[in-house]
Amino acid sequence: RQMRDGCKKDEEPKECTLCGLNPCLKCLQPDILYHLGLDTETTDFPKVFGDVRFVCMGGTPGRMENFAYYVMQEIGLKINAATKLRDMAEAGKRFSLFKVGPVLCASHGMGCPSISILLHELIKMMYHAKCKDPVFIRIGTCGGIGVDPGTVVISSEAVDGRLNPAHEILVHGISVQHASQLDEGLADEIKMCHDPDKDNFDTVIGRTLCAHDFYEGQSRLDGAFCEYTLENKQTYLEHLQSQQVKNIEMESLAFAALTSRANIRGAVVCVAILNRLNGDQIKTPHEILAKWEKRPQELVARYIRKTLYFN
Ligand code: URA
Repeated sequence: RQMRDGCKKDEEPKECTLCGLNPCLKCLQPDILYHLGLDTETTDFPKVFGDVRFVCMGGTPGRMENFAYYVMQEIGLKINAATKLRDMAEAGKRFSLFKVGPVLCASHGMGCPSISILLHELIKMMYHAKCKDPVFIRIGTCGGIGVDPGTVVISSEAVDGRLNPAHEILVHGISVQHASQLDEGLADEIKMCHDPDKDNFDTVIGRTLCAHDFYEGQSRLDGAFCEYTLENKQTYLEHLQSQQVKNIEMESLAFAALTSRANIRGAVVCVAILNRLNGDQIKTPHEILAKWEKRPQELVARYIRKTLYFN
């Protein structure tokens, strides 16, 4: 396949383990990762990012900064108590990005369009930096389906509101569907980091429904608009439960589709902040939510430590 600026499909990256990427990436000199405020001319990607093995992402800048400090402590990289991490994407004014040795921590905002922009730029970063087999993990919150609030759900696959395991995008006005499978082995490895003797919460693996909004797309009755009944909602959520859907969130379709297209192992690990079979509004006090939000972080930090030091 001859591309616009003369690149051929078979001229794919040789030094990098990613597959299926835009064959024209190498023609972009420099390549500007606009939303991260980084470019290949002013940053030496192999030098700065070449050692990255884990890319962790979550919704908010604050959560990811906290996670970066937590990982620093967990993998024993803390140089001194005053170590201050720099937001490497500050210039882009969109996402935050912290690097702790081989771990990158990025915020992705809300929804598939937002995480998909971040993923395009992080995947290009991995390519330019010549990273070997990076693992991508999304940590976040979700609405549970038939699971107790506080339970951690690791996604087996992402499905849309019709339970179709594909991320649909419109390219030139034409629907293109990309499979939204996640790495089963990685999901199992993260689940094994749950310690039933120590952790006072459950961790389960199940299908994840990815909605494109928080209210109508998730069959909530408390949005500004609602044109269906409590009964319609119950029927839908019970149908989801009968199809092994364990949670609903808003980023897994794009995350699964983009990571698997690049041959990147990916996992989605979310804590349920309510059981949607019992309601819509989040009434749990903030202190408790803050504790629950740490649960996916704890499992993922253990997974990283185990992979770095015991594999
Ligand atoms: N995130 C979601 O997308 N839905 C919920 O119900 C909770 C968190």
